[in-house]
Amino acid sequence: MMLNKFLIVLLVMLFSPLSMMVSGWDNGLARRPPMGWLSWMRFACEIDCQTYPDECINEKLYKDMIDRLVDDGYLKAGYQYVNIDDCWMAMQRDPKTFRLLPNQTRFPSGIDGLAEYAHSKNVLLGLYEDIGTLTCARYPGTYYQGKDHTYIDAETFSDWKIDSIKVDGCYADNKQFNITYVEYSKALSEVEHKILYGCSWPFFKQDFSDNDYELIRKSCNLWRQFNDIFDSYQSVKGIIDLMGKHNEQFRRYHGPGGWFDPDMLIIGNYGLSLEQSKTQMAFWCMWSAPLLMSNDLRSIRPEMKEILLNKELIAIDQDPLGIMAKKISIKSNSHQVWVKKLSKSSDHDKHHPYAILYFNSEQLGSPKYISYRLSSLIDDDEATTNKTIEYDVYDLFGKTKNESYLETINSEQNLRLKVPTSGSVRIVKLLPKNI
Ligand code: GLA
Repeated sequence: MMLNKFLIVLLVMLFSPLSMMVSGWDNGLARRPPMGWLSWMRFACEIDCQTYPDECINEKLYKDMIDRLVDDGYLKAGYQYVNIDDCWMAMQRDPKTFRLLPNQTRFPSGIDGLAEYAHSKNVLLGLYEDIGTLTCARYPGTYYQGKDHTYIDAETFSDWKIDSIKVDGCYADNKQFNITYVEYSKALSEVEHKILYGCSWPFFKQDFSDNDYELIRKSCNLWRQFNDIFDSYQSVKGIIDLMGKHNEQFRRYHGPGGWFDPDMLIIGNYGLSLEQSKTQMAFWCMWSAPLLMSNDLRSIRPEMKEILLNKELIAIDQDPLGIMAKKISIKSNSHQVWVKKLSKSSDHDKHHPYAILYFNSEQLGSPKYISYRLSSLIDDDEATTNKTIEYDVYDLFGKTKNESYLETINSEQNLRLKVPTSGSVRIVKLLPKNI
């Protein structure tokens, strides 16, 4: 009897989604997809602070965002990091210590001063460097002037109490990445302050099959995969399609401790309509992707802020199982269906909840019904055969819990939702009834 129980537990452990995944870098960080703000897409490398006093890369910009995160409810919703991107440095390393230096005019309190400010408000501070000789915007890189500064930099970041580092891959030999990025990971693991490690390693290999994702996952907490995101629907759609194309491969390496990073959330800028902004948020949450906003939180429109603070969606993103949604294979060029298994809310629950997303990319006509039989979408292997499961269906863009309830259907019925056109989504959560 005991042996039977033991065998069952063992089998469940062996075949659970978590154990099927390759184990990650165990620095204890990023157990859930990191959330925060990153300057690049919105503020890029603007260093003319005379002409653009509110939009240049300087201490004020990051302090403003730290304040907004705290005062406008983002921190409370889970957005924890404020991340500096390229263009923060002086043009040279310190000639004696070889340490990196911030641009003194734009960062008069130093990066350590900024970290202190962030920490005083419970915000974490992230920084940017590059594994090559120069950063992408040509500031000093790790191998500046041909010399390896990996360990010096890790110590500097730890001394400054930096909480996260994005390490880009410009001006570098990408054939060496299996060595250089791994060495960087080792250096970070040896310093005192814990630093989340974001790599751009796979992004710089043209052919994805060249990437050793097992090693990447063992070395980095997150890794950029595709080209830079721009402020347009076209850019977001390109990422959705690539994530779809490589879904089966990526899903295997994605989960607590290590995440594919489809790049920043651009919601709240100029390029996306309201519906397309919901689409970006919905997809990123379905993928358990890092949620790093790049926008101006000082002037964001309320309807965009509402999308970014959508509690139900954030909970889907942060679900402890950390599963990347599965793209369902269907015969259609105009719509897509994605499904994500979620964790049970208690051990007593018989079945898993699910999130299901319908995406309509048709650019002609009125909203259309998309309809699929539930049992063809979900794979609830705990379900006893021949037994249908009933689910309450909630619209995740519904305003309140009451308003968001749509219907109750069983697994042999169709989930039928009307979806607007031009890159819009409907996303629902299915809560199983425990019967
Ligand atoms: C690359 C990265 C971007 C950004 C810039 C900075 O293009 O992909 O995210 O960090 O460099 O120069």
